[in-house]
Amino acid sequence: MNHVAQSILANGQASAAILSDSLQVEGLSKHFQGTDTAVFRDVSFNINKGQAVALIGANGAGKSTLLRCCVRLVEPDTGKINLSGEDLSGKSGRALKKARRRVGFIFQKHCLVPRLSALTNVLHGNLAHRSGPRNWAQSFARQEDRQRAMHCLEQVGLVDLAYQRCDQLSGGQSQRVAIARALMQEPSILFADEPTASLDPQSGEVVMELFARLSQSRDLTLFFVSHHVEHALHFADRILGLRSSELQLDSASHSESIQSLREFYA
Ligand SMILES: Nc1ncnc2c1ncn2[C@@H]1O[C@H](COP(=O)(O)OP(=O)(O)OP(=O)(O)O)[C@@H](O)[C@H]1O
Ligand SMILES: [Mg+2]
Repeated sequence: MNHVAQSILANGQASAAILSDSLQVEGLSKHFQGTDTAVFRDVSFNINKGQAVALIGANGAGKSTLLRCCVRLVEPDTGKINLSGEDLSGKSGRALKKARRRVGFIFQKHCLVPRLSALTNVLHGNLAHRSGPRNWAQSFARQEDRQRAMHCLEQVGLVDLAYQRCDQLSGGQSQRVAIARALMQEPSILFADEPTASLDPQSGEVVMELFARLSQSRDLTLFFVSHHVEHALHFADRILGLRSSELQLDSASHSESIQSLREFYA
C-alpha cells in the first residue's frame, strides 16, 4: 500500500454522528437550450437515509447534469425534488441555501480557489453554515474551525500540504482537497461526481472506503458517479444507470455483476 493510502486509512476517523438525509426525485427532465435532444426525461428514484447509490452511464449520458439537477445547481425543466421531506423544487434564495446547508458536493472538476491554500479551501466548506470573513482565509479562522479543517485534511491524507497553494497541487491532490472541503461541511448527504477519477487506483480505493466508513458510522447518504464498475458494485447498495436520456437501470448492487454493468455501457 502506498504512503498516501496508508495515511488516509490511519487518519480516516469518522466525526460525530449527525442526521442523514433521504432524497426523492420525481419526473425530472432537462433539455439544454440549443441542443437537439433532452439530456434526460422523466427520471424518478428514491434514495433512503444512509444508502449509498452509484450512478453509471457512458460519457455524455447526463450523469453530472442529473447530480446537479438534484440540488438545483442546474435548474431542471420539470420534476420534484424532496430532501428529507423538504420540497427543494419551489425554494429560492436564502430558503434554498438553507435547505442545501448539509448537502456536500464533490465536483468532477474540483472547483477549488487556485491561489489559496489547501487549508483555506477546506475551511470554505464552513461557509455553508456560517458566512463572514472568519471563513474566508485560514489566518482569520476560529481555532476550532482551523483544527477541524486540519482533521478533514488528515482524513484524506493531505495534512502535509495544508499550506500549499491549490494551483501547485497535482490533480489527485486537488481532488482530495475537494473531498476534505465537502467533509468540513459535515454533510448529511454527499453528492460526488467521479470522486476518484484523478486518483491513483490505491488512493481511489481508500477514498471510497472512507466514504463507506462515513456512510456506516455517520449514516451519511451517498450518491456518487463512477465509471469504475467495481466501485459501483462494492461500495453502493444500489446502482442507477442513465442511457438514451432515460433512467434504464435501478437495481440492487448484489443483483448486478461486472459483466452486466459492462453490458449496460455497450
Ligand atoms: N451547460 C450546458 N449547455 C449545453 N449542453 C450541456 C451543458 N452541460 C452539459 N451539456 C450536455 O449535456 C450532455 C450531458 O452532459 P453531462 O456532463 O451531464 O454528461 P456525463 O454523463 O456527466 O458525462 P461524463 O461521463 O463525460 O462526465 C452532454 O451532451 C453535454 O454536452
Ligand atoms: Mg460527468
